Amino acid sequence: MTISYSLADFNQALASLPNDCTTGFVPTMGALHQGHISLVKQALTRTNTVVVSIFVNPTQFNNPNDLAKYPRSVEEDCRLLEEAGASLVFVPGIEDIYPNPDNRIFDLGGLDSNGEGPKRPGHFNGVAQVVTRLFDIVKPACAFFGEKDFQQLAIIRHFTKEMGYPVEIIACPTLREEDGLAMSSRNLLLTSEHRAAAPAIFNALSAAREKTAQILHKESPRKQDDITPDGIIREATASIEKSGLLKVEYIEIVNSLNLKLINNWDEAEGIQMCTAVHAGEVRLIDNIKLK
Ligand code: PAF
Repeated sequence: MTISYSLADFNQALASLPNDCTTGFVPTMGALHQGHISLVKQALTRTNTVVVSIFVNPTQFNNPNDLAKYPRSVEEDCRLLEEAGASLVFVPGIEDIYPNPDNRIFDLGGLDSNGEGPKRPGHFNGVAQVVTRLFDIVKPACAFFGEKDFQQLAIIRHFTKEMGYPVEIIACPTLREEDGLAMSSRNLLLTSEHRAAAPAIFNALSAAREKTAQILHKESPRKQDDITPDGIIREATASIEKSGLLKVEYIEIVNSLNLKLINNWDEAEGIQMCTAVHAGEVRLIDNIKLK
């Protein structure tokens, strides 16, 4: 495995790959966990060369404190990547990614109008800046993203297609700890008290999925006493906040294609429930497919 700490070195490493190799790309911000490793493994089933980038992208952080606190562990990350079978690791400096300030504003197709969009202004534009820059450098055949960042995945699919990048976007399932907490680099920042409370998020999402399944299996039209999406949101909020340690920032039930809020169960083919929750100083996100 080759590790490049500059664009010049990385370009050299790319150029020395055999002509017939297809490149699978896993962009990351480091502090890798088994969720990231599962993306690398998925990439290895489809391509013969897996490139991983490690870059904590400042333009996607709307909160400077969050950027400063973001966990960093490049040495351990590289050890895990070598073990997983990655071929090239790109650890660029800021000057490699942004030689000049990036003022590009992206068309995100309105997919940022709910969920994380209004809560983290500029976040998805920053993601688009770094991902397009990395696509231009790495020129992968396919790129792998986790479904935990459901809205990010939809937005990346959107601009990749709109801008005509010949990159296949592959969605990979969320990996969870044994108690259901979605794997995330931010979990490292949880206090033991908040870590113990955090599985309530997935428990509430799972309960919502079960309840929705019961409603959806009934005959249409829906009955007066059927619980509405709003009712499901109220129940999930109460259950997450029961311990007094977690605070729901939002729970939304959306059309999985256009990410618009839905008001009744028959409004969309695919329905996703998405949430952001504060566990002390740490902000966790998660989502589940309801339909
Ligand atoms: O999901 C992430 O880790 C980041 O948003 C990404 C896609 C690597 C861009 O910085």
